[in-house]
Amino acid sequence: MIPLSGILWLTCFLAVPSAVLAAPQPLPLPATGTSVSTAATAAQPSDISTCIRQEPSIKAFFVMGCGKPITIDRLDPIISPGLPSAHLHTVMGGSAFNFSLTYAQTQAHHVRTTCAVSRDKSNYWVPTVYFRHANGSLESVQQVGGINVYYQERLDWTDYCAGKEVLAFPEGFRMIAGDSARRTYDENSVEQRGIQFICLLTDGQEGLDPFRGFPGRTCDGGLQIRIRFPSCWDGVGLGGFEGGDDDSDSDDDGNGNGNSTATTPAPKSAYNGSHVAYPSRGDTGECPPTHPFRIPALLYEMTWAVDAFNHLRNLTSPESPYDKGEQPFVFSNGDKTGYGYHADFFNGWDVDLLQKALRDESCGDNGGRIETCETFKEFLQSSEEMNLVEELEQKVTGEGEQWEGVLEGGVLPGGVRVDG
Ligand SMILES: *[C@@H]1O[C@H](CO)[C@@H](O)[C@H](O)[C@H]1NC(C)=O
Ligand SMILES: *[C@@H]1O[C@H](CO)[C@@H](O)[C@H](O)[C@H]1NC(C)=O
Ligand SMILES: *[C@@H]1O[C@H](CO)[C@@H](O)[C@H](O)[C@H]1NC(C)=O
Ligand SMILES: *[C@@H]1O[C@H](CO)[C@@H](O)[C@H](O)[C@H]1NC(C)=O
Ligand SMILES: *[C@@H]1O[C@H](CO)[C@@H](O)[C@H](O)[C@H]1NC(C)=O
Repeated sequence: MIPLSGILWLTCFLAVPSAVLAAPQPLPLPATGTSVSTAATAAQPSDISTCIRQEPSIKAFFVMGCGKPITIDRLDPIISPGLPSAHLHTVMGGSAFNFSLTYAQTQAHHVRTTCAVSRDKSNYWVPTVYFRHANGSLESVQQVGGINVYYQERLDWTDYCAGKEVLAFPEGFRMIAGDSARRTYDENSVEQRGIQFICLLTDGQEGLDPFRGFPGRTCDGGLQIRIRFPSCWDGVGLGGFEGGDDDSDSDDDGNGNGNSTATTPAPKSAYNGSHVAYPSRGDTGECPPTHPFRIPALLYEMTWAVDAFNHLRNLTSPESPYDKGEQPFVFSNGDKTGYGYHADFFNGWDVDLLQKALRDESCGDNGGRIETCETFKEFLQSSEEMNLVEELEQKVTGEGEQWEGVLEGGVLPGGVRVDG
């Protein structure tokens, strides 16, 4: 495993939220020492040469915590709308999640969310983690503490001087980070450097340098996986192909292409990711000229109770397939390297409210504590309320397709086999 260079994450987090809290408690960010007001509230000189050349401090920064998954199912309305997806996902957020999804559907009155702000009916999803027993059977790993979604402002001084601000995700916007098909590590990929596997110690603290894929060691406090999304936007695309990225011709009635009896996934991805790009340093840095607009820099953080299997991963046992140092965890897409980790975001925000929060200084205080954000005050849900939101009935996975407990035969939901 390649240890973290340090630079990427030091600019971002010096500390990690505890893995086991129901309501996420992010720790403070490092102070940057400067205090430049947001582009939205301060008049900015248009001449860059007269503008103070300094990195601004982080302003809009809050952590959206979501409780239990809204569903665990073989669905992916971004990649394979209307059809079962190729592999299983653990899904957080809005209750509109389904075979296909439109912005209008996320905004329906009856739609609830497991996330802290009731007006954020977005969905956040990732592949599910499994443990491979010595005899080849697979067992689902418990996810702990829901998800932390970090919303960060990453304007640099040129943006400030040009009077730019971070734009809320528009209606219909969706995006993906990572690549499900990837099985090798490329140090030069800013996207891949934005994925980290953090082995937590028993006290919930980060004790080791992050790993790039599944760690080849036990993690007594669980395994925390983080992934960073692109934060530069072309100002045009929403993430769907021509005609597929607006609500007008989508499957609003829930029938149409929503064939729930189909057993094969969409032949090719319905996702067009050319609308977003990473800034030059992945987290911070300049946006490419093709993608001049800043959107919130999202980062997902999720923890899995891999420690529940510590007693079963005896590397020296003769029956163990892991005696060559191979680690025993695998994602629901069959990836045992960890390099194929990926994450999806489907915007379900009240767009005006998010834009208001991004301009609100009180939303950038206290190391991401969303409770301080005035804009969200009247829409905050307690973790109790979040967890009262009823889980969706599984539509593909479930009775006919086991996902939980021990899966004999070494086959993952959707007939997915572990690579190699
Ligand atoms: C494989 O091991 C698991 C865990 O011990 C057990 O639950 C399962 O029944 C075993 N399967 C077979 C086919 O022996
Ligand atoms: C992908 O989206 C971009 C806008 O982000 C658009 O210019 C391009 O034509 C789209 N490609 C296809 C094949 O639809
Ligand atoms: C989910 O999609 C299925 C298949 O398209 C549809 O029958 C069902 O009504 C949808 N559910 C909701 C709650 O919209
Ligand atoms: C749904 O898909 C299945 C499998 O491809 C097919 O047999 C069936 O005719 C389809 N049903 C509808 C209503 O399109
Ligand atoms: C691991 O397996 C070896 C060989 O079967 C055995 O001697 C050893 O006690 C086991 N260790 C643990 C911690 O179970």
